[in-house]
Amino acid sequence: MATVPVITIDGPGGSGKGTIAHRVADCLGWHCLDSGALYRIMAVAGLARGLGLDDEAGLIQLANELQIRFEPDHIWVDGDDLVEAIRGEVAGAGASQVGSLPSLRVALLQRQRDFAVAPGLVADGRDMGTVVFLDAPLKVYLTASAEERARRRYNQLINKGQGVSLPSLLEDICARDDRDMNRAVAPLRPAADAVLIDSTQMNIDEVVKAVLDLAAQRGLTV
Ligand code: DC
Repeated sequence: MATVPVITIDGPGGSGKGTIAHRVADCLGWHCLDSGALYRIMAVAGLARGLGLDDEAGLIQLANELQIRFEPDHIWVDGDDLVEAIRGEVAGAGASQVGSLPSLRVALLQRQRDFAVAPGLVADGRDMGTVVFLDAPLKVYLTASAEERARRRYNQLINKGQGVSLPSLLEDICARDDRDMNRAVAPLRPAADAVLIDSTQMNIDEVVKAVLDLAAQRGLTV
């Protein structure tokens, strides 16, 4: 891990981490880890197998056994494509719930670190800079106001033709923030050496450029 450069992008749900991480990885020709997808997979696969989302032992066994393969448009989990199933609000809330189980987080550590292969990795999540990739040469903490994050999510869902209410999305986002920031293990917070980017007033291109500029300043780009 020491020789493979890693850029970590942590932040609350809806801050745009996933989009930014993919765009930055594409620009650099690096790999990308969507760690939230792993927690979402655990929730969806656990529920499909009749496990409770508080069944730590059962979920750990599942984490150790599941065959997971990420492809650009698919996420294969024991032969099933879960790419759509993990995107919904139920999967997100379930992921937040299983993410508060300490031993499950440990069980998923190595799987995440295995993504750090040459030429480099952009990893997004909640604890990429504070736990999983402590030595990363660039750590970004990406945030935006809860209202702006709810608005972005609302527009996404409306564009997909799904009827949603903005107040209920805002409520969900605040509840998720509260759970992610106040859990005992690996709570969401900026790493001491993270650069803070507030994207409330920025578009995607501006944030991507800000991260790439930081990467260049730290000698991570050729
Ligand atoms: O980034 P996301 O919305 O896909 O994450 C869904 C949930 O998964 C999030 O609310 C908390 C949990 N999670 C986590 O605990 N640790 C991570 N590194 C990534 C996600």
